Amino acid sequence: MISTPPLSAGQFFNTSDGRFQSVYLDSPHSFSGLEGQDVIEGLTQAPKVLPPKYFYDDRGSQLFEQICGLPEYYPTRTEAWILQHYAPEIAEITGPCQLIELGSGSSTKTRLLLDAYQAQGYPLYYQPIDVSAGMLADSAAQLLTDYPTLQVQALVGTYDQALTALPPASAPRLLLFLGSSLGNFTPLECDQFFAQVTTVLEPGDYFLLGIDLQKDRAILEAAYNDHQGVTAAFNVNMLAHLNYRFAGNFNLEAFHHQAIYNPGDCQIEMYLHCRQPQSVRLKALDLSLDLARGDSIRTEISRKFNLEHMQGYLQAQGLSPLLTWVDSQHWFGMILCRL
Ligand code: AVI
Repeated sequence: MISTPPLSAGQFFNTSDGRFQSVYLDSPHSFSGLEGQDVIEGLTQAPKVLPPKYFYDDRGSQLFEQICGLPEYYPTRTEAWILQHYAPEIAEITGPCQLIELGSGSSTKTRLLLDAYQAQGYPLYYQPIDVSAGMLADSAAQLLTDYPTLQVQALVGTYDQALTALPPASAPRLLLFLGSSLGNFTPLECDQFFAQVTTVLEPGDYFLLGIDLQKDRAILEAAYNDHQGVTAAFNVNMLAHLNYRFAGNFNLEAFHHQAIYNPGDCQIEMYLHCRQPQSVRLKALDLSLDLARGDSIRTEISRKFNLEHMQGYLQAQGLSPLLTWVDSQHWFGMILCRL
């Protein structure tokens, strides 16, 4: 167990053996200097939306880990299947690389890649990036035990902060964006993301993208409305997070979770519906709003992609697709690109 002391933006924490370093890209409890502006904008617009980044406090990150193991939530195990089968091929193609992962969470699937790079005898260097410092410290501790030659530099912050702050690399980089997290971006956010990625990566660097593919509506909706109610708890936890972060008083009991597939936009949409009228105050943001019974807040979109379109899109962004893999049901895809 690595317990990191409270640090502020730009501070480092090193273990004595030098194999682990944690860098806070912002103060541990803030996402940016304009802290909460996006909440004010989202809750005062129609329809009301909240940015999905607020799912991921430590509790939200734990709930997301639980979601990944749910029987209905096929993306994690399907992507893991692809990696189990093709990680050795990926390692062979890229050669020795520094692995960087956006939204690393527990790094469970990354182990399949680390195994493949280790089997080739390549040096193991890993930069996980996540907003949850607790999750990063716990998963790094496990990884350092299991991979005795591994060096980890954990970056605590958002994708945006991390991509801006990535230190220069001494070897080609392999930037991992797994789990179809790209699906949580709007098309405009996608364009902005790739503009940033292609600025940060250098010619000869690699990008590995995992995407959830379009499929039967019933399978999709089941994946986001699980029977055990873990996704519902994950959704409502966003309001608990806003309550403590911004001194708010959302009545959590008064919301109910729903996820529906929007076939026009090929996306799952997650909502929190208000069951009873309430006056919400987020003191730290000086924001008050009255919610009526039946009012809804959209907390997430999860876009489902077409593989050929994505290959064309990546090419247009300046990332050349080298190889693509899918599972036997064509539910999930993985594309390896080079800049
Ligand atoms: C992180 N992201 C890719 C997940 C998804 O499937 O869109 C988040 C999630 N939301 C509900 N279940 C999982």
